[in-house]
Amino acid sequence: MNEALLDGQHDGRQLRQALARFATGVTVITTRTQQGLRLGLTANSFSALSLDPALVLWSMVKRSGTLADFVASGQFAVNVLSLEQADVSHHFATARGDRFTQHDFTEGWGGLPLLAGALASFECQLDRTIDGGDHLLFMGRVMRIRWSDGQPLVFSAGRYCSTQVLPSAGIQADVDAVWHGLG
Ligand SMILES: Cc1cc2nc3c(=O)[nH]c(=O)nc-3n(C[C@H](O)[C@H](O)[C@H](O)COP(=O)(O)O)c2cc1C
Repeated sequence: MNEALLDGQHDGRQLRQALARFATGVTVITTRTQQGLRLGLTANSFSALSLDPALVLWSMVKRSGTLADFVASGQFAVNVLSLEQADVSHHFATARGDRFTQHDFTEGWGGLPLLAGALASFECQLDRTIDGGDHLLFMGRVMRIRWSDGQPLVFSAGRYCSTQVLPSAGIQADVDAVWHGLG
C-alpha cells in the first residue's frame, strides 16, 4: 500500500498513479470548427452524467492548443473505442497536424466526425464548460446516439487492456435490477 498527503508540496505523479487504478474505457472526441476543420483527441475522462436530460461530460487539459476551438465550435462527438482500436487511440494522442488522414470517418450531426468501427458514439451540443483546475470540463447535451455490440478498449494502470466477464450468476439478477432501476 502506498500513501501520500496532498499538501500542495506533493508529487503529481503519485496522484496520477492512484487515479490510474480506476479503469476506464477509451474515447476519441472530435469536433468540426466553424471553418470546417476536423479536430480530435484521445480522452478517457468521458463520463455519463444524466439520463434526463441526456448529458455527458469530459475534460480537456487547458494547455491543449485546440481548447479554444472545441469551445467555439459548440459541439462534439464522443467515439467509444473498440478493442481493435488501440492504434486509433495512440494516433489521436500523439499525431501532429491533421489527425484525420489515417482512419475512416463519416459525418454526423452538424458535420461532426464519427469514427467508423467505434462501439458507440454520442453526438452532442455543448451545454456549458466548467472550470476544473488545470482542465476544462465540457458538458454536452446528447442529440444522437449510435451503438453496436463488441469488446471495448480499456485503459487501466497506464496500459491498454481488454475486459473479462466474471462468473457472477448468483448476483446477476440484482445487478440487472439496480442497473435498470437507474433508468
Ligand atoms: C488513454 C489516454 C487518455 C487521455 N485522456 C485525456 C483526457 O481525458 N483529456 C485530455 O485533455 N487529454 C487526454 N489525453 C491526452 C491527449 O490525447 C493528448 O494530449 C492529445 O495530443 C491532445 O490533443 P492536442 O495535442 O490537439 O491538444 C489522453 C491520452 C491517452 C493516451
